[in-house]
Amino acid sequence: MGIILSGVQPTGNLTLGNYLGAIRNWVTMQSHNTCFFCIVDLHALTVPQDPKKLKMQTREVAAAYIASGINPSLSTIFIQSNISAHTELSWFLSCFTPMGWLNRMIQFKEKSGKNRESSVLGLYAYPVLQAADILLYKATDVPVGEDQKQHVELARDIAGAFNRAYEKEIFPLPEPQILGEATRVMSLRDGTKKMSKSDPSEFSRIHLRDDADTIAQKIKKAKTDPDPLPEDPKLLTERPEAFNLVNIYSALSNQSLESVCHQFAGAQFSTFKPALADLVVSIIAPIGLEIERLMNHEDELDGILKKGNDHAREVAEKTLHEVQKTIGILRV
Ligand code: TYM
Repeated sequence: MGIILSGVQPTGNLTLGNYLGAIRNWVTMQSHNTCFFCIVDLHALTVPQDPKKLKMQTREVAAAYIASGINPSLSTIFIQSNISAHTELSWFLSCFTPMGWLNRMIQFKEKSGKNRESSVLGLYAYPVLQAADILLYKATDVPVGEDQKQHVELARDIAGAFNRAYEKEIFPLPEPQILGEATRVMSLRDGTKKMSKSDPSEFSRIHLRDDADTIAQKIKKAKTDPDPLPEDPKLLTERPEAFNLVNIYSALSNQSLESVCHQFAGAQFSTFKPALADLVVSIIAPIGLEIERLMNHEDELDGILKKGNDHAREVAEKTLHEVQKTIGILRV
């Protein structure tokens, strides 16, 4: 039994990558762990957001969690910004985080690109806020996709630095949990790039709210190569697009890559793609419909979020007070 925390940014329609790399794995953890799943709206603010859309997208992530199988009576679903302890702890932790550690963060380098000087402080400091999200709940395990591993490792380093500074085990050292077959789902247009909400091409990704026809269209148009599928998955290593599609099939059908390759050995993509489309539709389309239903029942969603916020706040404030006491903050 551990304490689990994870989150997704409300930056638009969630993708198959978010589902396979993260949310789906959370569902299986709920029954035997204490789980906190947040909608990390403060993280979303590191790039410009339309205020009206942000609200809608925040509810949409909550709906996606529930539609994917997160049960609000087993797990705490809450909104990061509604718990002010996140930003407070983030400040305290930033005073224990050497800039050299942040300079190593791959995501900052990727997102800031050549515009480092004009990048906002929030984008640079973002991993410290993520550490606060994790440490406030004393999480032991953080289930994320491959791309977030470095941030969770940083949270672990920050927790260690804080504990050492006060010679006290305030924070457990959180472990990244990179689970399942599809820890890095790639773009359908370019098998060397991560499937991402921010890719300009809609055809690069499958959204959880795509209907059956759209999903089938996107898979039909997915980039591939002219060769048939091999019997041995090792032969896919030089074929990123083919590997990605087989990998998605493997994750969604809960089969190993070996068994999928065995099943489709020698098949052309004209045979494999319709089978993949049917599989994706059978799992994602019902989730999309349930998100749709929940989005039409705002009161139901807000009730779940309010209950989640209340519980998260209680836990978070307890940790924050413990930290304040340790640091020597005078509270009058
Ligand atoms: P975000 O919103 O970019 O992604 C949410 C989760 O989805 C996973 N993911 C993927 N997994 C596999 N293949 C993909 N193509 C793919 N795209 C996204 C991510 O790895 C992630 O697990 N900083 C985080 C959110 C965050 C967080 C936290 C996570 C804030 N605080 C505390 C864990 C704990 C982020 O931007 O995720």
